[in-house]
Amino acid sequence: MTSSMARVGWADLPGEVREAVEARAGRVTEVENLDFGEGSEFKAVLDTPTGRVFAKATLIDGWFAPRLYAEARINPYVTRLAPRLLWQVRAGGWLVLGFAYVQGRHADYSPGSPDLGMLAEAVAALQDLTCPEHVSWPVERRWAGLTEQPQVMAGRALVHKDLNPRNVIISEGQAYVVDWATPCRGADWVELALLVPRLIGQGHSPHEAEEWAARFRPWRHATAEALDVFADAEAHKRQKLAAQWPWPNQIRTANGAWEWARWRASRLDSR
Ligand SMILES: Nc1ncnc2c1ncn2[C@@H]1O[C@H](COP(=O)(O)OP(=O)(O)OP(=O)(O)O)[C@@H](O)[C@H]1O
Ligand SMILES: [Mg+2]
Repeated sequence: MTSSMARVGWADLPGEVREAVEARAGRVTEVENLDFGEGSEFKAVLDTPTGRVFAKATLIDGWFAPRLYAEARINPYVTRLAPRLLWQVRAGGWLVLGFAYVQGRHADYSPGSPDLGMLAEAVAALQDLTCPEHVSWPVERRWAGLTEQPQVMAGRALVHKDLNPRNVIISEGQAYVVDWATPCRGADWVELALLVPRLIGQGHSPHEAEEWAARFRPWRHATAEALDVFADAEAHKRQKLAAQWPWPNQIRTANGAWEWARWRASRLDSR
């Protein structure tokens, strides 16, 4: 991933690609090019005769192609909480995905936010899903070299892995989860544990963040030792990520991860 990647607008896509999209989706009457995000070369909101579409595209032989293929492949399994993939088009060396557009806003994870209840419902729906057979990337690889016990994070549950508030869209009382680019397989509490530093980074105390997670059975079944290993490894991982991409949210989450790890370690001392 690179923040200096070239952004491509609808008009910059090869004519062959635009024609193939219009053959599938109908004539594109309005375009809003989106110039944020790090997960693809092209993102836009397209108006078509059948409705508004959120489109993402990448060069088929490019860096982002595996991410878009992963999103397309998992979509049928996760439509309870993700916008539906309406079509995918391969033309002129590009892969274009068209998702149902969700009119909404990014989630707010700060204390007292009503979005936390909707997030909990989305997470509950996620936990009800069976990990599709083809999703095999072991989540514990995230912490390779950062802990001697990565195997405590191993398991058979589906993990989205990036429930940052920009990947959670609040719309009409529901939280939609987008950006299924790096799904993996791991312990059933890992998704919750990945959220804890995000909650702390947004102003929750470690105790409050753990209380939020404790509404889910997998959290209550996780051993204290496994959570200690996770908190320490994730603090190191977050520190690396924040050094690589020193954006405000990365830094907040890294600080949250360290606060949590220190809090758990201090309790360890008194256990
Ligand atoms: N179906 C959708 N409807 C409306 N907006 C969407 C939809 N999917 C994604 N978005 C918006 O577009 C943003 C970027 O989408 P997404 O996260 O899938 O792409 P990305 O390239 O991985 O970007 P980022 O690096 O920001 O995560 C999301 O944060 C969300 O605000
Ligand atoms: Mg995203």
